[in-house]
Amino acid sequence: MKVFVTGGAGYVGSHCCKRFAEAGWEVVVYDNLSRGWREFVRWGPLVEGDILDEERLTAAIREARPDAIAHFAAIAYVGESVTEPDRYYRNNSTGALNVLDAMRKTGVEKILFSSTCATYGTPQKTPIDETHPQAPINPYGWSKLFVEKALADYAHAFGMRYTSLRYFNAAGADPGGEIGERHEPETHLIPLVIRGILDPDFTLSVLGDDFPTRDGTAVRDYVHVADLGEAHYAALKRLEGGGGSETFNLGTGVGTSVAEAVAAAERVTGRPVKRRIAQRRPGDPPELVAAAAKARDMLGWRPAHSGIDDIIRSAFDWHSRGG
Ligand SMILES: NC(=O)c1ccc[n+]([C@@H]2O[C@H](COP(=O)([O-])OP(=O)(O)OC[C@H]3O[C@@H](n4cnc5c(N)ncnc54)[C@H](O)[C@@H]3O)[C@@H](O)[C@H]2O)c1
Repeated sequence: MKVFVTGGAGYVGSHCCKRFAEAGWEVVVYDNLSRGWREFVRWGPLVEGDILDEERLTAAIREARPDAIAHFAAIAYVGESVTEPDRYYRNNSTGALNVLDAMRKTGVEKILFSSTCATYGTPQKTPIDETHPQAPINPYGWSKLFVEKALADYAHAFGMRYTSLRYFNAAGADPGGEIGERHEPETHLIPLVIRGILDPDFTLSVLGDDFPTRDGTAVRDYVHVADLGEAHYAALKRLEGGGGSETFNLGTGVGTSVAEAVAAAERVTGRPVKRRIAQRRPGDPPELVAAAAKARDMLGWRPAHSGIDDIIRSAFDWHSRGG
């Protein structure tokens, strides 16, 4: 098995490359390093290129001759997508079409796609299952929902098979300590909580303590990135075995509030998290928790590292070693 991994120098993509390599699969990473890290590409060659450069992308796929594509490459800041929608639609939607068209030209028929719980928008009920209406509330979510639709239409017309994986909140670091979460700028909660411990000049802003939740802070479904790696492995095995196109939530079904994540960090590390209460961000839902039964039943996926203490411990270990 050989997998062509767009965005494989990024956070989730690099952890998935590690899992694929552990399975004995070959990986080729295609990334423009706009938001990724050369040192995260350890399990196969890096082709530096942009998914918007269709010619280069097609040539790279033709040369690699992969059995499947894992498409992670995207930009993913909700706030930025509101002020720069043009960039988001171009990079995430047009970029994905380029990947699909390159697959057609090179005869690759299987693809995994990194989708997101942001395609659901403000949930009408929770936990959110895969049949929940999709009504994004920002351009980032729309740019991803467009790709889900294009995948379905391309699969129908051209005989490709895809798996869309709607991640909830990816978190944690490689339990082997080789790679971890690094976004620039960082907007994800767990690395910011850790920064609130390690960086004397940083204070964590808790965005809202007046949500209608058990302690007033926002509740999210954190899923360990190593468990995401396992789900991608299982999803590709399924496609390789002839499985049809499907969409899965990747979450645990367990919600953790910001206050609970902070308390877990203080408990696990024995150190205080410097924090202050700040205003909610407009449009932030109180609670986003996945109904996770479909991935469990059809992929046999059981998150093994996604307890909040395990997430914090792996992230803290990686960040305290300078990650
Ligand atoms: N991190 C999360 O919690 C989360 C949640 C839901 C969905 N996702 C999705 O998962 C995927 C990976 O997210 P991540 O957190 O690892 O982000 P990331 O920024 O760490 O990784 C994205 C990678 O894609 C590359 N890239 C971006 N645009 C490119 C382009 N035009 N050409 C080539 N490479 C390009 C970047 O350089 C980077 O290495 C994204 O598609 C994101 O939308 C992430």
